[in-house]
Amino acid sequence: MKNYTKYSPGYFVPPMPVTEFDWYKKDHIEKAPVWCSVDLRDGNQALIVPMNLDEKLEFFNYLVKIGFKEIEIGFPAASQTEFEFTRYLIDNDLIPEDVTIQVLTQSRAHIIERTFEAVQGAKNVIVHLYNSTSFAQRQQVFRRSEEEIIGIAEEGARLMLKYRDMYPETKFQFQYSPESFTGTEMEFARDICNAVIDIWHPVMDNKIIINLPATVEMSLPHVFANQIEYMSKVLHNREDVILSLHPHNDRGTGVADAELGLLAGADRIEGTLFGNGERTGNVDIVTLAINMFTHGVDPELDFSNIKEAVEIYERVTGMSVGPRQPYGGKLVFAAFSGSHQDAISKGMKWREETGDNRWTCPYLPLDPHDVGRTYDGDIIRINSQSGKGGVAYILEHSYGYIIPKTMMSELGYFITGISDNAQVELQPREIYDAFKSEYINRFSPIDISDATFNHLSTTKDEGADSMSVKMRAVINGERFTLEGDGNGRLDAVSNALRQTHYNFDYDFVTYSEHAISEDSNSKAAAYVCIADKTGKQYWGVGTHADIILASVNALVSALNRMNEHLHFIK
Ligand code: KIV
Ligand code: ZN
Repeated sequence: MKNYTKYSPGYFVPPMPVTEFDWYKKDHIEKAPVWCSVDLRDGNQALIVPMNLDEKLEFFNYLVKIGFKEIEIGFPAASQTEFEFTRYLIDNDLIPEDVTIQVLTQSRAHIIERTFEAVQGAKNVIVHLYNSTSFAQRQQVFRRSEEEIIGIAEEGARLMLKYRDMYPETKFQFQYSPESFTGTEMEFARDICNAVIDIWHPVMDNKIIINLPATVEMSLPHVFANQIEYMSKVLHNREDVILSLHPHNDRGTGVADAELGLLAGADRIEGTLFGNGERTGNVDIVTLAINMFTHGVDPELDFSNIKEAVEIYERVTGMSVGPRQPYGGKLVFAAFSGSHQDAISKGMKWREETGDNRWTCPYLPLDPHDVGRTYDGDIIRINSQSGKGGVAYILEHSYGYIIPKTMMSELGYFITGISDNAQVELQPREIYDAFKSEYINRFSPIDISDATFNHLSTTKDEGADSMSVKMRAVINGERFTLEGDGNGRLDAVSNALRQTHYNFDYDFVTYSEHAISEDSNSKAAAYVCIADKTGKQYWGVGTHADIILASVNALVSALNRMNEHLHFIK
């Protein structure tokens, strides 16, 4: 890469005539810009296989559904398909009253004429005129002087006024783009835009759109913002001009260009869903809109069902949304890392407990519900990197098991160990199945088939209450009818088991229980932890419609797990 010396920022991006700017003093965007989708033109013309009429129609209807009021539907003079699509929309009255279609035209007489023919009969149309203005294009492609390039724009601007008068049934708005603006000297960009404004402004009764494209993104985003602020300050009749941006994404900072450009005075953004478009694409409107949303600004576009947006986009364009694409990507809400999972679970819990409606959850800048994503499948994902919090979160939120804090660590290692061995991510169902077969209702070789308890209350103040149990047990295939007393239910069961010839040598460590609402078959879950004489702990989980029998099942499960290690039942 030593030939970097053949590049220089100065060649492509001409120096700015001024050095003082104000846009950086603002720290957020206050309102949504006017959005214009160019999916059906700039996006479409960059596809390996451009959309057919049905696909364009489906995409158009979707753009309308999510709230676009301005949609560039094509370059009708450039191809028959584009012309026919324009006619199809108009002839079949498919454009809602509050939606304005936009059509692109070069500044050439026959192309302008054909463009006006294409939109005949439409109610509201933006005709978008462009010619290329950069130093490199003037020097190498057109080989024309500055005056000649301005002349091309002026001629097109005048012709548009002529055709406007020929189609009085349509309400026209005019837009001009100095194509390759980012490589244009700012004084020249100013002069060519003002020349067009001076032709249109005295005649047009609505605002003129001046669209400044980063046709090729060449600079750091703040340099683009400087260019926009400069233009915003020097355009004639600024109050009657809508300043529009059209950033491409060559350096991967199209979103930054758009955002800083809005701070610098722009009113309107042209872009595409998920950033489809020439080369690295146009600016991604999904990201821009949801970025605004996460700063508490109404984006005036509806991405509350982001999966639908991805599905339509991928099917109709044949492009794909990468797994890490902001907001739409499959993995963008996923937390695999244990510490992230833990912080997210705690953040969610904190939110529930405090009832605070503001979104402040660690690691998640957006509540996935707001774009129609779910917490379970999308956020906490379990692989070998995951932690106890993530496993507990899934078991609680998908299956209703509130894992005791002291059990989480052992369970976390157990589950992530399975993922590590198999080198795969585990789905919530697989986590539940593994948890169930290891911990819940383990009835072999020890099983207690029934148990009846009696509460023995003492008449003396100082005496502790006690419990007696009558139960039947099957241990290693051998049947027992047993009785026992204890200072609680599980103590009574333990003492009854100790009547057998097996060596039930353990202590209770902890016990907890809760009702399960998610799983309709069981109504209670109990968790028992016992320790053998070396202090090693064994958890067991029991479920049953009866909370008392759930606790017996939990103890039996813990005993069977202990036996797996100690083999005290041979
Ligand atoms: O990128 C660009 O400059 C364009 C113009 C036609 C606006 O698409
Ligand atoms: Zn473009």
